[in-house]
Amino acid sequence: MAKEIKTIGVLTSGGDAPGMNAAIRAVVRTAIARGLKVKGIKKGYQGLLNEEIIDMEARDVSDMIQRGGTILGTARCLEFKTEEGQKKGAEICKKHGIDGIVVIGGDGSYRGAQKLAQHGINTVGIPGTIDLDIACTEYTIGFDTAVNTAMQAIDKVKDTSSSHERCSIIEVMGRNAGYIALWCGIANGAEDILLPEKYDFNEQEIINNIISNRKRGKTHHIIVNAEGIGHSTSMARRIEAATGIETRATILGYMQRGGRPTAKDRYYASIMGAYAVDIMLEGKTNRVVGYQHGDFVDFDIEEALQMQKGINEYEYEVAHLLAI
Ligand code: ADP
Ligand code: F6P
Repeated sequence: MAKEIKTIGVLTSGGDAPGMNAAIRAVVRTAIARGLKVKGIKKGYQGLLNEEIIDMEARDVSDMIQRGGTILGTARCLEFKTEEGQKKGAEICKKHGIDGIVVIGGDGSYRGAQKLAQHGINTVGIPGTIDLDIACTEYTIGFDTAVNTAMQAIDKVKDTSSSHERCSIIEVMGRNAGYIALWCGIANGAEDILLPEKYDFNEQEIINNIISNRKRGKTHHIIVNAEGIGHSTSMARRIEAATGIETRATILGYMQRGGRPTAKDRYYASIMGAYAVDIMLEGKTNRVVGYQHGDFVDFDIEEALQMQKGINEYEYEVAHLLAI
């Protein structure tokens, strides 16, 4: 028989992402509307182990939907990767009367949720990461805001690049995933897009491309480089030496993780937050919420973690076609 859920906890874990507050708000208010008590757990699994747990009411999430970051705070917690840490976390949940936890984060955070479920705490994960690198879902909370922030910054760099007839390398976030780079590359009309999943470190090809573009009359040359490839500053120096064209590097960094979430991030976060509470009330546990083919869906965490996702070949080809 499904365990009766009277109190749920909510935490954010891993890198923060714009829209996490909208998700927290949706979890808190849906749970209250369904007659549950809600506890906010601060600073991810670290806050759970430190018992940084607060009661949350509907008004505690007022005026939050438009704010970036996470009001609960987030952390990466090594102790929670240990069996002992996970056991302690589950015991703390039981001590505070927490029957289930909604975990907002990425793949790593889901692994933590999986471990809590194995210790008898019902868990549901919500995809919160700017990287879009969660295979079971076509959408992750924060991606749209991050891409728009990066796109606007690249537009500005492009103005300068055209005015000075420079080559510009702009580094966007994504250590293992090139989705932000691919989307900006297309949305900004970049001449080159370097993705961790694809890049073959053939710098000579980029140099040849810059020279032939210049001959074809292009005044700027925008290279969107993903963080996972990195080395934008030294790459700029080598390109300038090889082409004779002034080349500058701009590393956008954490500005991509902050700021007011877009409507899309607020919308998906709101629905996913509510959905997470509702499936938990149906008795589901060890699940993760996703968005696929126009629907909100959920998967077993292990099944979700086994799924693979990669850069779409056709989209990648189009990015190059449009850069002529
Ligand atoms: P993300 O959730 O964005 O992928 P991380 O991979 O840093 O971010 O994971 C966030 C946190 O989730 C970690 O700091 C750790 O506390 C917890 N976590 C990650 N992997 C595991 C694991 N295998 N077992 C238990 N907890 C984990
Ligand atoms: O997962 C989001 C992300 O911003 C990645 O794009 C980046 O590689 C990583 O987090 C950086 O993490 P940290 O906050 O630990 O520097």
